[in-house]
Formats: sequence, structure tokens, C-alpha cells
Amino acid sequence: MKIGVLTSGGDAPGMNAAIRAVVRAGNLYGHEIYGIKDGYSGMINDDVVLLNHQSVSGMLSKGGTFLGTARSSEFLLEEVRIKAVENMKNRGIEALIAIGGDGTYRGAMDLTKMGLKTIGLPGTIDNDIPGTDFTIGFHTAVETIVDAIDKLRDTSTSHQRCSIVEVMGRHCGDLALFSGICGGAEFIVTPEHPMNKEQIISQLKKHRAEGRRHAIIVITENILNVHEFAEEITEKSGFASRATVLGYIQRGGSPCPEDRILGSRMGTYAVELLNDDIYGVCVGIRDSRMVHLPFSNVVGQKRPKNEIYSLVKKVS
Ligand code: F6P
Repeated sequence: MKIGVLTSGGDAPGMNAAIRAVVRAGNLYGHEIYGIKDGYSGMINDDVVLLNHQSVSGMLSKGGTFLGTARSSEFLLEEVRIKAVENMKNRGIEALIAIGGDGTYRGAMDLTKMGLKTIGLPGTIDNDIPGTDFTIGFHTAVETIVDAIDKLRDTSTSHQRCSIVEVMGRHCGDLALFSGICGGAEFIVTPEHPMNKEQIISQLKKHRAEGRRHAIIVITENILNVHEFAEEITEKSGFASRATVLGYIQRGGSPCPEDRILGSRMGTYAVELLNDDIYGVCVGIRDSRMVHLPFSNVVGQKRPKNEIYSLVKKVS
């Protein structure tokens, strides 16, 4: 079989490990694997390269995605998707493995309906995809954030400051939750676990009165303006406060072992699903095992609140 592979949406460490596994496992089973450049744009522009064992050599440890990625608004148009599928069919590519987040899955679901045998792999640092315990890239991003929190704590303690750390996640609090727990944050604020400003400020006043030398607040992006919040804390709590927006640094870096393994397992599993003529599904990891679910069970669904939220009150 000729199988295409692409990465789409925000890049995530471990995407290269997944592509590598698709190529290596695919070749082992006798398939030809084609890399599609820059997400769905590569399907539209017919920007496709044949990949082999050598093309993915050394990729396991590389961050980003060597195929490139994009968020293609054009792909939302049906006539554009028809052209993209035609390009693939002209090359004899009958199956596609699409690595990305929710937007990628929406595209992949449409392509399945248009006759391309499509499988989705969850590649995003946000960990916001239902049907999987973890997404490729999440663990590495948590490591990056924890490293930043540890450093911010050093300087916060020296200066007796409160540090607000804004992390990514779009509308999912898992990056803040996991990194906040690992970094020993005093407060973790997420869409699933909101806290009002007054609560935080009054707690900070207490901490200050007890003589604590620092406080760390980890907060998911898109909740409030962290620089304004830092000023408010400084004015009202007696704790001088500074905000740090970690930004795109969270998406880069060499994937950690968990993401290398997850990418490798998921890439291999996707090829094996196609061997069994299973498609129109996305891959997940549940209780350490590979699973797959129809796109319709996952696309547009909300991920249940992570059960480790119960830890926040007990250890913060
Ligand atoms: O989905 C991954 C992510 O990094 C989110 O955490 C963030 O909100 C978004 O992508 C940023 O997107 P862009 O790269 O388009 O600015």
C-alpha cells in the first residue's frame, strides 16, 4: 500500500518519532511511505516526498517536525479537499496517517468520508484530545515548564516575590496542572479548576504574614491578563509580583523518553491498523495500552477533567 504521513497544527516534540515509526514499520510490512510537507497544505500543493529508512535516521531525538506543519484554513473548503484527495489518488496514495490535534482530526475525518483511508495520531503539547490518556509532546512540554518553574522559584525566593507563570494549553489545563504539581506551585489556575482573584490575593496575604519568601502561580493561557494580575497582587497582597509568559519555548526541544516511546508506539500501531484495513479512527493510549476510537467519538468532544485534579488541594 502507498501510505501518506503528515503533521498538522501546532508542532509537538515526538512528532518526528511517530513519523519515523510509520516509515520503519511501514517499510517492514512492505508499504511505501510518502511524507506530505507542511500539513494539509502539502496535500493541496502536491508537495510529497518518498521516505525510506535513511530519511528518518537521527530523527528520534529531534524536536519539531521535519515534515513541517501548518494550520490550513483553505482546507476547510470542500473544493480544496477534493483537489487534495485527487492529488493523493493520482499518486496511488490510498491511506493517510495524520498527526496533530483536534483541527487535524476534523480534516482527517472529512478525508475518510472522501475515500482516503485515514488514521489520526494525537500530536499536541496540550493533552486536550479525548480518548487518550496522553498526547505526543505533552510530557516534554511539562518538563520544559517544570524547569522554568524551578528557575523562577530561585529568583522569587531571593527577592521575596510572587511569580505568575502562564503556560499554553489553549482551553485545557493539563499543562498547568501537571507542571504545577511537579513544580510545587502554591496555586494552579486552569479552565477546569478556576480560582477567583480575591481568593488568591487573600491567601497570598496570609502567606506573606507567615513570612513565606515566595509564591508560584501557574495559570493556563486565555484566562486573564497575567501582567495586570501581577500588578494587582503587588498592590493588594504585599507580595511583589512578576508575570512570565512561557510561550513557544514550550513547543520546542528534544522529546523526552515518554514522548519518543509514545510516538514510536502510536506510529507503529497506526500502520498495523491499516494492515488490518481499519481506518477512520484515531489512536490513543489508555492504561498503557494502545487503543483506537472512531473520529466521531473524539472530534468536538470535551476531554473529561483529569483525575489528578484531586491532588491540587492536598499538595498545593
Ligand atoms: O495547540 C498547541 C498550541 O501551542 C496551544 O497551546 C496554543 O494555544 C496554540 O497552539 C498556539 O497556536 P499558534 O502556533 O497558531 O500560535
